[in-house]
Amino acid sequence: MIPDSFKQDLLNRVDIVDVVSRYVPLKKGGANFQGLCPFHTEKSPSFTVSPAKQFYHCFGCGAHGNAIGFLMAYASMGYVDAVKDLAAGAGMTVPEMQRSPQEIQRHERETDLYGVMEKAMEFYRAQLKESTEAIAYLRGRGLTGEIAARFRIGYAPDDWQALQAAFAAYDDKSLAETGLVIDNDEGRRYDRFRNRVMFPILSQRGSVIGFGGRVMGEGEPKYLNSPETALFEKGRELYGLTQARDAIRAAGRVLVVEGYMDVVALAQFGVGYAVATLGTATTPVHVNKLLRLADEIVFCFDGDKAGRKAAWRALEVSLPLAVDHKPMRFLFLPAEDDPDSYVRKHGQEAFENLAREAQTLSGFLLGELRAQADLSTPEGRSKFLTEAKPHLQKINAAGLKLQLLKEFAAQAGVSQEEAEALMELRNAGARTYSRPAPARAAAPLITSQEQNLLRCVLAKPALAGTLDFDLLDEHLAESAALRTIAAWLEVEEAPSEAMLAERLRGTEHEPVIARAQTAMLAHGPDAESADHEFRQVVLSLHIKHKNAEIEVLKREAATRPELGAELMRRTKELAELKGRRM
Ligand code: GTP
Ligand code: MN
Repeated sequence: MIPDSFKQDLLNRVDIVDVVSRYVPLKKGGANFQGLCPFHTEKSPSFTVSPAKQFYHCFGCGAHGNAIGFLMAYASMGYVDAVKDLAAGAGMTVPEMQRSPQEIQRHERETDLYGVMEKAMEFYRAQLKESTEAIAYLRGRGLTGEIAARFRIGYAPDDWQALQAAFAAYDDKSLAETGLVIDNDEGRRYDRFRNRVMFPILSQRGSVIGFGGRVMGEGEPKYLNSPETALFEKGRELYGLTQARDAIRAAGRVLVVEGYMDVVALAQFGVGYAVATLGTATTPVHVNKLLRLADEIVFCFDGDKAGRKAAWRALEVSLPLAVDHKPMRFLFLPAEDDPDSYVRKHGQEAFENLAREAQTLSGFLLGELRAQADLSTPEGRSKFLTEAKPHLQKINAAGLKLQLLKEFAAQAGVSQEEAEALMELRNAGARTYSRPAPARAAAPLITSQEQNLLRCVLAKPALAGTLDFDLLDEHLAESAALRTIAAWLEVEEAPSEAMLAERLRGTEHEPVIARAQTAMLAHGPDAESADHEFRQVVLSLHIKHKNAEIEVLKREAATRPELGAELMRRTKELAELKGRRM
């Protein structure tokens, strides 16, 4: 971990304009710099770099970030490398990681846990060579020795304590911490994996962090996976990524499938760019990882009901993360097949043809929502738009959002403007103009009060500590981001604006922060005016709530005249609040 204090210093010293202009020609225009966006193809510049706010934003494709993010996205650097690169340019040295004794201990622990897993993998591999049954099983599934070696497939013998042969200290706690053994209630220890074909799960760096073990033939459970451990978090990892990396780069495409065997069989038959989620649903971490690696993601699910459900879940996770220059597709196989059986029956070419023609994300979204609504009636068309609303609101990619808006509007028989208003798309912040508007033309952004508050808090983070969360609409993503910031302030000093955005990198809050920062380009506030604007927004929220209270009270007072006095009191309070408005 690089200490936050260092990152804060670094972000203070580095000028994003210098960093970006190393790679992208920029021209000054007003307070900001403009250039052709390096993240998508365009003829007129919609890529903006703000020296005051130290971030870049593309009004065409929505690319957004600070100097660290730019190096990561443009130069494909990892986080630490990007920080080091910036530090070197600013004449700073990244401090040797200052570790607490606990951290040092944890680090050592983890290092030797990796060693334990590596040793177990080697043991299982050696055991595979000894087992004619396991070899026959893999052969029967069409795998060559070469592919088995590439995926480091092994075999856990049919023995309760086979790992004793690999680990002299079979009672060491590291074996339990890695999930390789199970301690029962009577204090007896035994191997978790017995008589199974073993698929090692590797981290992005290529270390073994878990295993999936398959029974040979029938048996329950079909797959047994390592539990989550200090090394292994299922929602972050993808099976086969290490082996697929080069093929992904060459194809510009990554294929996401459901099973270990699908990945291995596809590789066996020449489709090397497949990875699998590990028996969990697709997560945002998965999607972000894949978007960094490839230009196109194809999610491939079984054609059955469970497969469609998993695909829908992947779509929901992907909507906020989609970018215009990286299409996502959904491939549904015939109901009787999974990728493994399909590629074995029909071969590489047939499979890749399917992948190329797979349904687009927008096609899938439209198709599913259309199937649920009867577009021949006004009610059905209205339901169609209502159902579409939360999905469209989640999209940050301006082009995709616009295209979908047009499509939904056309199918529901309303104009684009009507659909936009009905689905409150402007309110949700992301832009939906038919042309990418030039950055300088402050576009009319109708925003929520919550977003206004977030802008103020970004300009002056300490304000978050004073917020009354009862006033906020808790369904809005802005409110969630504000809550997170406020929680920090309970235990620490307010970070700077740059640091605040930096700390929210990679979290669910990243998109709203990007939206709010973008709105700040045109609407501010700056640190000086933030207090005043913040007070005004809070006041208008109070007024809104008071109005709502009065409405309720009025309705009740119609049948309960004794409420009249109360109603009068509240009305006076409302007038008093209004009087404070400036
Ligand atoms: P094969 O039958 O070997 O072809 O496997 P498959 O990949 O076709 O399996 P399936 O489609 O049934 O499952 C896909 C993925 O879900 C597997 O790769 C596992 O990660 C996970 N999975 C399947 N069965 C089980 C199970 O019984 N327990 C657990 N924990 N995970 C499972
Ligand atoms: Mn299968």
